[in-house]
Amino acid sequence: MNYRRKIIAGNWKMHKTASESKTLVQDILTELKDWNDGDVVLCVPFTSLAIAGSILESQTIVELGAQNLHQAPQGAFTGEISAGMLRDLFVRYVIIGHSERRQYFRETNALINQKIKTAITSTLKPIVCYGETLQEREGNQWRSVLETQIKEGLANFTEAEMETVTLAYEPVWAIGTSKTASPAQAQEAHAFSRSILNQLFGKTVAEKTRIQYGGSVKPDNAQELLQQEDIDGALVGGASLEARSFATLVKKGCQPLS
Ligand code: PGA
Repeated sequence: MNYRRKIIAGNWKMHKTASESKTLVQDILTELKDWNDGDVVLCVPFTSLAIAGSILESQTIVELGAQNLHQAPQGAFTGEISAGMLRDLFVRYVIIGHSERRQYFRETNALINQKIKTAITSTLKPIVCYGETLQEREGNQWRSVLETQIKEGLANFTEAEMETVTLAYEPVWAIGTSKTASPAQAQEAHAFSRSILNQLFGKTVAEKTRIQYGGSVKPDNAQELLQQEDIDGALVGGASLEARSFATLVKKGCQPLS
């Protein structure tokens, strides 16, 4: 067992209106009453941040996250959202570089690098996503893909800047497909990622940085995945949209295998 505290984040993607979000946040808090065995984050749509923030600001069990930000502090960027706007709504975490943003919105490693920088300087904690496609996995290129994404995404950061960064390894072929990486496959990719962190920043950062696994994590596979040596939590899409299932996943994921 390692000493890193688990971190489980729900990624609601483009689901739930503000009023639906209010109910779901309240239900999750009820299910997780008195929870303190791991960090829990809800990354809700922009339009739900205000209502979720107003519910979450008075408690410490669940923290609020966003799913994206713009790299500039402000300006003529119609339709975009700045780090300052997020901070003002009690947002603490922000997902950056999700594969859906890389694929559908053409986000590159260089842009992701700028967004991470903006998040850190605005005291938002980035959850930085990376992962290979099915083709890259089957062509046995996954190591070089992960290495490039990590090295370019985290280029030019200092050890101190890395302190609030969480990584999320999400093999694209496992997202929303019900195909989970096996615990051994996921562990192998996480250990490899940690070795890249070691190359870039040295042993202390490599050992401290939390790396979540994401891709079809459910209540019944969370425990086995999260008990792997280098897996420090989960980024959860589908299974975070229902309170009981998400709370069960959180509890099982943080429980040692007996
Ligand atoms: P999933 O999504 O749990 O629905 O596979 C994970 C993610 O995209 O973060």
